[in-house]
Amino acid sequence: MAFTIAVDGPAASGKGTISRALAEQLGLAHLDTGLLYRAVAAATLQGATPVAAARALAPSDLENEDFLRTAEIAQEASKVAVISEVRAALLDFQRAFARRQGGAVLDGRDIGTIICPEAEVKLFVTASAEVRARRRYRELAAKGHDVTPEGVLEDVQARDARDMNRSDAPLKAAAGAVSIDTSDMSITDAIEAALALARPAFDAAAR
Ligand code: C5P
Repeated sequence: MAFTIAVDGPAASGKGTISRALAEQLGLAHLDTGLLYRAVAAATLQGATPVAAARALAPSDLENEDFLRTAEIAQEASKVAVISEVRAALLDFQRAFARRQGGAVLDGRDIGTIICPEAEVKLFVTASAEVRARRRYRELAAKGHDVTPEGVLEDVQARDARDMNRSDAPLKAAAGAVSIDTSDMSITDAIEAALALARPAFDAAAR
């Protein structure tokens, strides 16, 4: 069975948590596509050229997740993500993952628009910039990163602007996507809302 759930949205909107929960509850594979761009960014910060790094990307490059989740790598990821050749180099892997047998959940910025417009379920997960920055600040501070609330808000806004205004695959809701605004929702409620949207399509595809 090919069955894809495409989850797009800005940084710290809750799309990662929702995607992991959907994959777990429905028994689907999950790919956090942001990690691909973060891994390219990490190689770039170590001296590689972004396009060469994207073309040479290997599964082992995604393993050190904690290292890839710093604020510095997030900013660099949104810079390499503007480069069309970088995006093109990552396309086939993501498309194959999306249509793999058994079904998949992918989260990112362009899953419903570019990677898998034929996805059976498309979600667009949002929240206000202030709420997202607060969440990201708490996450990074809890891991011991040296961050301030104001700095994290600035980073989130800079990344939003870069992701929404680039010419290739800008962040936007795909045609037919259902929006979930998680600003005033608990994690549990957001997961419930996403499951209520995805489960009927999943049951229909599994029949
Ligand atoms: O989702 P995450 O915050 O890890 O993504 C890091 C950056 O990678 C984003 O700010 C965005 O610029 C880029 N990205 C993208 N397309 C995706 C996933 C991430 O351009 N599908």
